[in-house]
Order: sequence, then C-alpha cells, then structure tokens
Amino acid sequence: MTETPSIVLGVTGSIAAYKSLELVGRLRRKGCKVTVIMTANACKLIGPASFEALSGNPVALELFPDSKPQNIEHISLAQLADVLAIVPASANFIAKAAAGLADDLLTTVALAVKAPVLFAPAMNVDMWENPVVRRNVKQMTALGWKMVEPETGRLACGTTGSGRLASLDRIESEILVSLGWRDDLKGLPLLITAGRTEEPWDPVRYISNRSSGRMGMALASAAARRGAKVTLISGPGDVPAPEVFKHIPVLTAAQMHQAVQRELPRNKALIMAAAVADYAPKNIASGKIKKKNDGDITLTLKRNPDIIQLASAKRKPGTLLVGFALETDNLVANAREKLIAKDLDLIVANPAKTLSGENIQAVIIDKRGGTIKLPAMPKPKLADLILDRVAKLTGAA
Ligand code: C5P
Repeated sequence: MTETPSIVLGVTGSIAAYKSLELVGRLRRKGCKVTVIMTANACKLIGPASFEALSGNPVALELFPDSKPQNIEHISLAQLADVLAIVPASANFIAKAAAGLADDLLTTVALAVKAPVLFAPAMNVDMWENPVVRRNVKQMTALGWKMVEPETGRLACGTTGSGRLASLDRIESEILVSLGWRDDLKGLPLLITAGRTEEPWDPVRYISNRSSGRMGMALASAAARRGAKVTLISGPGDVPAPEVFKHIPVLTAAQMHQAVQRELPRNKALIMAAAVADYAPKNIASGKIKKKNDGDITLTLKRNPDIIQLASAKRKPGTLLVGFALETDNLVANAREKLIAKDLDLIVANPAKTLSGENIQAVIIDKRGGTIKLPAMPKPKLADLILDRVAKLTGAA
C-alpha cells in the first residue's frame, strides 16, 4: 500500500446512496484517496457530479465508456483499490456478486479485485429477511467479503425493521480496519500540543524557534485515525492541522498553558510535542518600537511557565504525561533528567538536527528507565510507535 491509501467505493441503487456522500468526505479527511463507481440505478437516485466534487476524482460509471479516462477502466480500478467498499449494497448487487456475474462496471471490478472487499447492505426489511438475500449474503461472507450488518430502525419505505444502512461511524471504522489501520485508541480522550509558540515584544515582532510542528501534527493525525478523541492545542507551524475532535489554535506559551490547564482534566493523557518558548519578552509595547539611528536595544525576557511540569503537579491520578526533549548534547542523560524532574511517564528525546525535518531519530525513555534507541524514520512512523506505548500505558490496547 502506498502512503495514501486508495479506497474504491461502489455505490448501488439503494435509497441510502446519499449517505455515501458523507462517507467520501470522512474517508478523505482520514487521508484516503477515494474513487467512486456508481451503478446505473444509483445514478437515478443521486447525481455523479456530487460524488465527483466530494471525492475530487472522476466517477466511474460504465464498463465500456465512449471516451475512457485514463486509469479508470475496470482492471485498473481493481488494481487501484486497497479496499473495495460497496456502500450501500443493494439486494440486486449482492445477488449478482454471489452469482459471479460481471454485467456492469461495479460487478466486474468486484470480480477482478484482489484487495479486501467490504459491503454494507441497505434495503427494505422484507427484502433483507428474504431467504434468497440471506443465502446470497451468507455466500459472500463465506467467500471472505466483510459485511457491515445493517441496523434495525425506521426505513425509507416508512416501516420499521432491519435493513437500515449501518452507521457511517461503523462503516468508516471497518474500512479503516480493512486497510490494516488499528482503532486501538477508540474513544480515548487525548490532549496533544503541537507547533511552536510565538512571544511578541511589539505588535509586529516576536521571538520563537524553528519547530515546524510536523511531529505534533503527525501525532494528532495518527491518534485521530486510531480512534482517539483528540484535542489539539497548536501554536504556529508549517503544516496544516488534521481533522480532530477539537482544535484550539494559540500563539503564546501563556495561551497554551491556559488551554492545557482547562482541557487536561477531561483527558486521559497529554502528549506535549509543542516547542514552547522558554522565555517571553517581559514587556510588550503597544505600538511598534521605532528603530533608532544608532545604539543597541535590550530585550528583557521572563521565564514562561513550564506547561508540562505544572500539568504534572496538578494532574488527576492516572493521567499519562508524555514530553519531548530536544537536546544538542548528552541526549539520553539530559532527557532522563527532565523525565524525572517533570515526573513524566515517557519522554521522547531527539537531537536538535531533527527539529524541522521530515525524519526524526528518537530515543524513547520511560519512567522505569527503559530506553529504546530508534533509527531515523519519518515522523508519522514515530507517531505510531509513541501511540503504541500510550495505548499500552493507558490500558486502551
Ligand atoms: O525542559 P524542556 O523545555 O527541554 O522540556 C521539553 C518538554 O517540556 C516538551 O515536552 C515541551 O513541550 C515541554 N515544555 C513545556 N513548557 C515549556 C517548555 C517546554 O511544557 N515552557
């Protein structure tokens, strides 16, 4: 699988087809590429243009289109898929798939695909309970297709019963699991800080550092993908914030401190990846400080609050604290000292050269003294390794 997983989403002619529009958005927000195949009946219920706009890709409609856009004929579609998801799957589609028919684009792709296939049936209760449908479904699940079982509830035809499309939360989660993504942090409230802080000394000038925010954003993105309820408090950085449960942008260390104090009691763990400025100008001029013709000026700096240390002193029992330590010398010894001084559960030490790069070479140290020296790796990969430890220590996994 490439870095960007590719989902081929088959939409069939069930009245629930419109719900797949939201699914496309959800999958894209998780970083997936989505290519939609619609059956002819699906097109009677909803226009391909909506799927095209939301997926950002042409919608595949026909087995033998007049003008064939590149890479969208059936074999390449089958090869493109890291997962084929049919949402909603109509009784007609399930019957054709069970019989091995390939009379349109979607059934043909379903026969040719080697990736995992997942289907979420949606239909009227009498159809769903019909023994023929049950037999077809059983056959497909026995052949290895993953079914996201429909729910019981009010159906589009006005009756109540089973046959209602499973919730998008469940479908999305099953698709991600089929991609090999874990959801071991499901529901875990997790506070993450990212980015640098900027400390102003007049309305147009500030002091800061070179942190890009990549590590913190990678952590937030991986944690959200693994199901955590992420609250992200971020200062300025060079990469955009991923979609998370709650995002609080801040500028200064004082603002970050306030936000952490407010949010921490609601969370099970704090991962403090932000590069907080240790000092801030003591006075902030209300107007731009004028340049003098000659002579120097002196900027007096005051100590910023040590956010994680203060959080550590005030934390509810059982709240896990993970800090970072950026060091130019004596990496492990200095990081271990910080772990003890701030009473952290884990500290991730990294040399200063990894500050704003794509890769990071880290040492993970725990409070029992366990030390793992890791090779250089992309920041998203380290994010997953840190989250593996968080999952274990919080009892989430
Ligand atoms: O002591 P040092 O600044 O190296 O510690 C780094 C860790 O402490 C990081 O997790 C960083 O986010 C956090 N920190 C903090 N408040 C500060 C400075 C650093 O929470 N004022």
